[in-house]
Amino acid sequence: MCGIIGAVSSSNVLPVLLDGLKRLEYRGYDSSGLAIIDQPGKFLRLRAPGKLVELERTVSANGDIDGLTGIAHTRWATHGPPTEQNAHPHISGDRIALVCNGIVENHEDLRIWLTDEGMEFQSETDTEVIVNLIRLHMDRGTDFMSAIRTSIKSLKGAFALGILHADEPGRIIGVRRGSPLIVGIGEDGIYLASDISAMIAQTRKFIVLENGDIVDINRGGMEITNLDGQVQHRDARISDLTPQSMEIGDYRHYMEKEIFEQGQAVSDTLEGRITASRVLEACFGTEADRIFNRTENIQILACGTSYHAGLVAKYWLEDAGMPCQVEIASEFTSRKHPTPNNCLVITLSQSGETIDTLTALDYAKQCGYAHSLAICNVPDSSLVRNSELVFMTHAGPEIGVASTKAFLTQLVALRLLSIVMARKDPSTAQDEADSIRELRELPANVESTLKMNSTIQEIAQQFADKQHALFLARGIHFPIALEGALKLKEISYVHAEAYAAGELKHGPLALVDRDMPVVSVAPNDTQLDKLKSNIEEVRARGGKLIVFADSETRLSSRENLQVINVASVESSIAPIIFTIPLQLLAYHVALIKGTDIDKPRNLAKSVTVE
Ligand code: AGP
Repeated sequence: MCGIIGAVSSSNVLPVLLDGLKRLEYRGYDSSGLAIIDQPGKFLRLRAPGKLVELERTVSANGDIDGLTGIAHTRWATHGPPTEQNAHPHISGDRIALVCNGIVENHEDLRIWLTDEGMEFQSETDTEVIVNLIRLHMDRGTDFMSAIRTSIKSLKGAFALGILHADEPGRIIGVRRGSPLIVGIGEDGIYLASDISAMIAQTRKFIVLENGDIVDINRGGMEITNLDGQVQHRDARISDLTPQSMEIGDYRHYMEKEIFEQGQAVSDTLEGRITASRVLEACFGTEADRIFNRTENIQILACGTSYHAGLVAKYWLEDAGMPCQVEIASEFTSRKHPTPNNCLVITLSQSGETIDTLTALDYAKQCGYAHSLAICNVPDSSLVRNSELVFMTHAGPEIGVASTKAFLTQLVALRLLSIVMARKDPSTAQDEADSIRELRELPANVESTLKMNSTIQEIAQQFADKQHALFLARGIHFPIALEGALKLKEISYVHAEAYAAGELKHGPLALVDRDMPVVSVAPNDTQLDKLKSNIEEVRARGGKLIVFADSETRLSSRENLQVINVASVESSIAPIIFTIPLQLLAYHVALIKGTDIDKPRNLAKSVTVE
């Protein structure tokens, strides 16, 4: 979603802003803009709808641009379409420029009030009320910083802001309430950004602002205060990211790179978390032992792909004797909950900044849920900082909007958790050493499954002229079918739906004809015979099936049934392995369709609005 980059530097900030915007592209956006103080008392503002290349064109057309202070923004439209007028920065009275990531919930009331007070609006955005509000307070004699504080107090919603005053080159004010914002400390300057990746070419040293923080960046350094002006101390850290770890290398897309990094990602996630025969439960946090001993049931909250990982975990955890509920985070907050005793709330998130998941965690705490565990890929993210226990998936930076390696490593984390939980119930008699052995073999199994790439590339041709697809599976693989359908629709724009195969004859079978490819995953498990019947039901109605099947299932290709063998693995890790062909299928179909694979239309990597 929207991204912010700002800089106060001893040299021209234009290249820093453009590089930062490029690195923020992955978050999802549909217009962009920048404002630079190119001479005291004056902003140069350039904005463009569409991709960043449009802004770059506008920049080139403006000749030499030079300034030591600037802010820039990628906008993911919420209030008002992605036009130049609605793009940020918004400027009021030629004096204040502002960029925002987030939403001002009471913008309508404020706009009416500000209009009555004589303020004029140039855009349809909620953001413009903030910049006009600050100016109104300044027009009435309040200084810049006090005007910002007073304005923030009358705003409802979650947001992060970067603000410039034309008469104060060398100064940027940053505000964090809800949406992420960090400060980078470099040798040549100080930076403000939505995430560390935006400034990684300048510095790896950063400070994460907390909710309610206002940072005053100036040439002399910076000061962080709260809304009441009290100084706040925040520690600086060094990021593990390097510019190289964000490079695409020889791959065509980040998604392709990230799919092929999965063997390493799984291995990195397991490293230091298991011995030859045991999961080290301290990998969930120093308090894990105490909290897990008390835990009587689990509530998982997540969105999108992370939600699918939660659905898989329900099968593992309940198999281990631990009752588990899984809910879409945005739905969890829509009703009252009778608080279960000693319930562990688990949030799953690649980014750790998904507002629906953060809000659901807050709500669970208000409802009295006992403990929280975040399984997350981004250190220092809001979710990590708001949770008692934390398990970091070591997937490395995931840039493609379609989540791949983050999903696989979430599954690894949840598998480890279910092994720990199984210790509570001796009747499940799970052999921990066997489970560990299966996990140790997992990176190699992932690598060998990736070798299916060229076969799947050929199969993808069958989707070249298709608009719809069905995905079918049973049991623990039903969430894998959901994930396969989500991958296909989000990057290739082919309408795909997943069904529990048993549901087929309760409705979706009516959709089956020669134009509706049906994709299924068939592991060698207890559900296989029933799945085979469902496959026959589709064939009998002229449907064309593509089935990824465990090589031990003895399923074979025949008319309208194409079987692609997947190496046989233990059923405990089969969902992890069967995800891979579905990711590759979505990728190759999207390649054929010619879509923008890493930045699919309308989507954002980090969804920071509800
Ligand atoms: C994944 O392919 C999607 N782009 C999306 O569903 C994503 O998983 C969801 O927005 C949740 O994100 P998170 O894991 O960062 O919380």
